[in-house]
Amino acid sequence: MEVIIKENYDQICDEAVGLIYKNWQEKKDLVLGLATGRSPLGVYERLIALYKKGKMDFSRVRTFNLDEYIGLSKDHPQSFAYYMEKNFFRSVNIRRVNIHQLSGTTKDIESHCREYEEKISNAGGIDIQILGIGRNGHIGFNEPSSSLASRTRVKTLTQSTIDANTPSFKNKTEVPRYCLTMGIETILDARMIILLASGKEKIEAIAKTVEGPLTASVPGSALQLHRRAKIIIDHEAARLLQRKDYYIWVYENRDKVNDFLK
Ligand code: F6R
Repeated sequence: MEVIIKENYDQICDEAVGLIYKNWQEKKDLVLGLATGRSPLGVYERLIALYKKGKMDFSRVRTFNLDEYIGLSKDHPQSFAYYMEKNFFRSVNIRRVNIHQLSGTTKDIESHCREYEEKISNAGGIDIQILGIGRNGHIGFNEPSSSLASRTRVKTLTQSTIDANTPSFKNKTEVPRYCLTMGIETILDARMIILLASGKEKIEAIAKTVEGPLTASVPGSALQLHRRAKIIIDHEAARLLQRKDYYIWVYENRDKVNDFLK
């Protein structure tokens, strides 16, 4: 796990996009795992800007979204499919056949989830998984107590997640209680994970994810098991980290380590 602490939200997005761009230069048919929510918005803006400048081409890029609400069609303004279209897909030259999303209106949830896993595997696995984190430590919609060995499946959202989502819905009764989400083990299968967090409401989730015990009560802590998990956060979100100075030193001196080992 590498903890990268930056001044602010803009800088964490720059860092994440730098990593995505570098990997795309080496593999033009990059497989990206995508998240919705506030955290990755700046990443999508920057990827769109790279595309518009002619520096990045998405024609071979393949994507898999993390999750979707059950009961919302892809045209519903609060569905994750709608979010992705609005904030990313419609502004780049990604091919429709290369976009993969869980459907909130599937009739056969079990086969749908199994097929989603198969599609990820047929694509050769996810190269880079982008994640945000919930205040309760959820990643994807793997709420606290999710099995660390979980795969794509239905989850019931916790009251705190429902409360956090409620302001986005016109009518309280419309707020979904169930979702489909990649599992924790599905996420851990990605070759690289980039988790983005910014601001004071993520302080505790980040402290527990990075320095707390590995536990299903904090799904983010499962990232401690991953060899290439990059936790890219701003100073505010990093405030409770006990080894903050150490992470900053390691990051700032990362080239010196390589020189030292030569
Ligand atoms: C979204 C997702 C969620 C969010 C998390 C943080 O696809 O899977 O885990 O990443 O709820 O949301 P924001 O970034 O809005 O704070």
